[in-house]
Amino acid sequence: MPDLPFTFTLPTPELIPSHYDNHIQRRLSALKGQFLDEKAYAEMLGREDTLLYEVYEITRPQAAGELLTGLSVVHPGKVGGEFFMTKGHFHAVLETAEVYLCLKGEGFMVMENPEGECVVERLAPGKVLYVPPRWAHRSVCTSRQEDLVTFFIYPGNSGHDYGTIEQQGFRKLVMDSPAGIVIVDNPRWNKK
Ligand code: F6R
Ligand code: ZN
Repeated sequence: MPDLPFTFTLPTPELIPSHYDNHIQRRLSALKGQFLDEKAYAEMLGREDTLLYEVYEITRPQAAGELLTGLSVVHPGKVGGEFFMTKGHFHAVLETAEVYLCLKGEGFMVMENPEGECVVERLAPGKVLYVPPRWAHRSVCTSRQEDLVTFFIYPGNSGHDYGTIEQQGFRKLVMDSPAGIVIVDNPRWNKK
């Protein structure tokens, strides 16, 4: 990769970047143990390993001083009453932040830190979200028909700690209910 300034565009309406290096697709099987309704999860997985979200990454060295960018596309859908979401993670270098810009769709960013604080922030087009150092983050798509599309920027040396969330989950869940979208405590948080 040349060390020169570069540009890319996010053409509408698909918003797939005009240039990217990696295209990651994450399916239902990658979120084993994360959805509350295990029966609904098993039934859905039995039918198909459904595509939940995709990430288009621009490659740069994973080094301090670099910035990693890309596009995250979470598809609409639910497992039981719980909306499709990303795996979510802490950064391996905990003291690294991230910025998200929501380009399309509707949803939430579920966040928590090791100190036990939680924030669930609504995402809508035009919204910029600053995720401070130490905060794990997971995007959730709550639209019934539209993708949740966000552009992200984070330090090159951040790395990803997926294991902590795989083991304990997030403290908050985003669920559908007869009364509408609700944010509830996760009864299974850290119960594995
Ligand atoms: C990078 C970051 C995003 C996510 C993407 C997919 O640090 O937060 O690029 O990687 O939204 O989510 P995960 O990585 O949790 O599968
Ligand atoms: Zn991140």
